[in-house]
Amino acid sequence: MPCSSTTRNPFTGAEAPAVDVKVDGMSKSYAGVEVIRDVSFSVESGEIFVLMGPSGSGKSVLLRQVAGLESPTSGTVRLSGHDPREEATRDHVKLALVFQAGALFNSLSVYDNLALYPREHRQGNEKAIREKVMHSLKILSLENQEGKFPSELSGGMKKRVAIARALVMEPQLLLYDEPTSELDPVMSATIVEIIGTLKDQFKVTSVVVSHDRALAMSIADRVGILMNGRLISIGPRSELEHPKDPVVADFLQPKIDIGHPRFKQLENQNQKAIQ
Ligand SMILES: Nc1ncnc2c1ncn2[C@@H]1O[C@H](COP(=O)(O)OP(=O)(O)OP(=O)(O)O)[C@@H](O)[C@H]1O
Ligand SMILES: [Mg+2]
Repeated sequence: MPCSSTTRNPFTGAEAPAVDVKVDGMSKSYAGVEVIRDVSFSVESGEIFVLMGPSGSGKSVLLRQVAGLESPTSGTVRLSGHDPREEATRDHVKLALVFQAGALFNSLSVYDNLALYPREHRQGNEKAIREKVMHSLKILSLENQEGKFPSELSGGMKKRVAIARALVMEPQLLLYDEPTSELDPVMSATIVEIIGTLKDQFKVTSVVVSHDRALAMSIADRVGILMNGRLISIGPRSELEHPKDPVVADFLQPKIDIGHPRFKQLENQNQKAIQ
């Protein structure tokens, strides 16, 4: 359930204050083109908030503003009251972002990918770092994979390594960008289960950007729908079953009209190619 007041460190078991997210009137433009338009929402501590929307609607851009990787053009993002763009915020809020494409370093082994952050931040000696890395790999069912390089991993394993690397950062807030894209249904279900487990066991607050309705239906506490840069709907996951807004319904259950002229045109092209 959401509203946790503390998170639990996955390695030490130590408790830390849980993190909430507040986005208020946020817009983002690139070269004068507005891609996020006056978006406001909040994520309670310990909650899984799933952000859905069509390709190009601005989901990754929105997540980058929440992570503090970029500054919104207007409006504010606050993580437990702190601006993610400020250096001092890292003293109060530990966040980790699981990137859409994994963003693993191809020249580094799985072990070194995970050890990079704790080494750079001088989090203990090599023995302590090793313990943390191996524990993260175990949580993600990646035992004995530490010596492999990203090119030797399947897509599903890469996603799990990316999550394990985020976990090493001991996050209170986990941001996932399309964690199940390009995966088969079984591997998608595994990743969904992992996201739910990280929330249940460690009480991390999670924002998950996804096209995956099955993911939203199984783990979301609340779901936001982003269309063309605007947050057009926000509510509990049960609302996905019978959306009131026809635009939302159309996105969730698109109807393909095979009588549409575009399909006829394709059919003609195919027939010509065969002849
Ligand atoms: N750095 C950038 N500079 C200029 N335009 C950008 C930049 N990043 C994103 N955009 C534009 O912002 C819009 C939203 O992009 P975004 O990557 O957030 O989409 P998305 O919803 O994550 O799509 P997908 O589901 O395909 O990942 C797109 O039109 C994109 O071209
Ligand atoms: Mg994206």
